[in-house]
Formats: sequence, structure tokens, C-alpha cells
Amino acid sequence: KLREALTRAFLDVQSVNPMLKTSLVGVPWIELLASDGVLEVKIERLPGLDEDERLAELISVATRKDWEAFEVVDFWREPGGVYSVFILEDVASDKRLDVTSVISSAVPFKIALQKGLIVDFEKSPGLGLFGKSGAGKTTTLLAFLAQFLAGGSQVYLVDGKNELQALSSVLQRASGVSDVLSMLGYVVAQMEQREDFLGKEGARQQRLGLKASEVGLTPLVVAIDELGALVASAQAKEKAELIALLTQIALKGRSSGVILVVASQFASVDTIPNAVRSQLSTKILLGGAPAELVRMVFPTASPGARSARQFEGFVYVDGQLGREPGRYQVPSLGKLENVSKWGGFVTYYDTERALV
Ligand SMILES: Nc1ncnc2c1ncn2[C@@H]1O[C@H](COP(=O)(O)OP(=O)(O)OP(=O)(O)O)[C@@H](O)[C@H]1O
Ligand SMILES: [Mg+2]
Repeated sequence: KLREALTRAFLDVQSVNPMLKTSLVGVPWIELLASDGVLEVKIERLPGLDEDERLAELISVATRKDWEAFEVVDFWREPGGVYSVFILEDVASDKRLDVTSVISSAVPFKIALQKGLIVDFEKSPGLGLFGKSGAGKTTTLLAFLAQFLAGGSQVYLVDGKNELQALSSVLQRASGVSDVLSMLGYVVAQMEQREDFLGKEGARQQRLGLKASEVGLTPLVVAIDELGALVASAQAKEKAELIALLTQIALKGRSSGVILVVASQFASVDTIPNAVRSQLSTKILLGGAPAELVRMVFPTASPGARSARQFEGFVYVDGQLGREPGRYQVPSLGKLENVSKWGGFVTYYDTERALV
């Protein structure tokens, strides 16, 4: 339908506009790629119809009626110069997740990032949340942690800014560097036990590549709020230890059901080691961001700064959305701002049970 609407827009412009003096009326080749909330429109550039601004205008006309929520948010020319690519996004509908409403249906390994966008962490192991101070990273992280807890995950929180003491009653939390190191050391030991268990279970069932969920292991979530703050306060030796532990968790976590969630103001290699970064298959960038940060967070996206309203941003899930990051809105915690409400859905976890 959209292709038809676009074709009609092209025919209209050519019949009212004598800019094409040839006897043939050319309608460009159009390719469409649709994913949740994002449309990618690829248009062949024809003589007389090859100005990108003009094409963007035509797209706006064609989408005005049936796709009014969509707006052209970005466009560029493909190398080779044959096609121009336009990214249209649903900029109108409210996708803000109401965490309270999804808690009751939480399942292990899957969480909703926003309305209509669910991520399976057994397929996409890590999540990175970036944005400047006050952008809503901690709020977003809490919305995810609540879902993990409700789905029966064990959660280990590295509280880099030591501001989430209230959560100590519902999850494992560490703040100072030495506490964090011993907590992560414990996680790595758990991970090794899990790997061993998976290996034995594989031998028993004569199967290779068993997933954690297939043998009843529940997720173990390592969440880090402000890794940067922690790294900054660590001495060289501690920093090296910290990076070594995180690298192990990032590289070996997925097969044993260990999930890594990192929130940080910065996305540079100094703050987040490459091995960790490469495991973050879901990325969220909150707030407007300069081109440099966009490139660090979304290396495969089209270059350019991104603007976003407050408590909004961009999300990208490897292999699940199109090529371009889609619009993101910071979830609403609702009554979960009161931590005493968390007790109702947290499964108090018996470590031994997962390994029996
Ligand atoms: N959608 C929203 N609407 C209104 N206020 C919000 C929304 N999301 C978060 N806030 C509030 O904005 C403030 C900053 O959010 P938050 O602490 O999550 O940001 P942050 O990115 O973690 O900041 P920092 O880098 O300083 O830790 C908080 O007071 C939070 O309650
Ligand atoms: Mg924060």
C-alpha cells in the first residue's frame, strides 16, 4: 500500500510538473523495509527527481494520510549514487512501557524494553544504556531489573554511584571497588559451576550447545549502573581486575544464562572494555547525542547527530530491528518507585536450587 501511495505521488508530481521533458514518464524503483516503528524507504534516483530534499517531501505527501505518525527523520545517498535511503519513524504514538503492567507476565530471559519491543536475552546477550546525566538511565535500568526479578532471575547490581541502597532488600548489590570485585568474582565462580553443569547435562543427554533455559537454569543478571564512576575510583590494579572479570562475564556469559546490563554516561573504550562492548547486542541511547557518541553506540547506523526530546532516545537490537535505531521512550516506573512494592513479585532465590 505504501509503495502504491509513493508511486502515485511520483506520478502526480510528474504530471503537474513539466520538469521531465522526456516522452517517457519514469517512476523510480522503490524498496521498503519495515520493522517495529521504523520504515526504511529506498528510492532510485532518476534525472529530474534526484534531490533528496525533494524526495523527502514527496514521501511526506505520500504518507500523510495512512501513515501520519511517520516522519522522515534521516536520509542519505547510498554509495554508488543509484539510490537514496529515507528513514521514517513513528514519532507520534506512545511507546512508554508501564512496568507495573508487564510484571505479572514476566518470563525468564525476556523483557519488554518498551511497548511492542521484547528482547530475548538468550539470543541477544547484553544490553547497554547510554546517555548524559539525568537522561533517565537509572530509571530505565530499574524498569528492566524489576522485570528480570519478576521473571525469576538472580540480580547482581554494581551500584557505581552508591545511590540504590533501597534495592538491597530485593537483590545483591555492591558499591565500593573491593565489594564489587568480590561480588563479580562470585558471579564468575557461579558461571563456571553453570558451565560445568551444562557440560555434564549435555553429556547425559548426548546434546551439544544446550541452552541454559533448556536445563532449567534461571538467568543470572549482572547489572552495572555507572561503570564509569567505578572505573574512575579504581586504582590501576583494581581496574585491571575489574576489566578481567567483566570480560569473562561478557565473553562466556551467554551460554550459561548470564546476562550483562550496563548503564553508563560514556561509551568510550576507557570506560567500557571492547570485549564487553561487543557483547552488547541491544543498545539504548537516551537524549540528544553528538555524532561522535552516536558512532560509538551505533557503529552501523547512518552517521550524524541525533536529536531527541527529554526522556526519549534511540534503541537498537541486533538482528531484530532494521538497520537504523528506532525511537525509544524511558519507561514509567509508576508505583515501583516505592521499593516496598517490589517484594510482591521478587522470587527469593536459592542459589543451590539452580544447580541441582
Ligand atoms: N519519563 C520521565 N518523566 C519525568 N521524569 C523522569 C522520567 N524518567 C526519569 N525521570 C526523572 O529524571 C531524573 C533523572 O533520571 P535518572 O536518574 O534515571 O537519570 P540518569 O541518566 O541515571 O542520570 P545520572 O547520570 O545522573 O545517574 C530522576 O529524578 C527521574 O525520576
Ligand atoms: Mg543514574
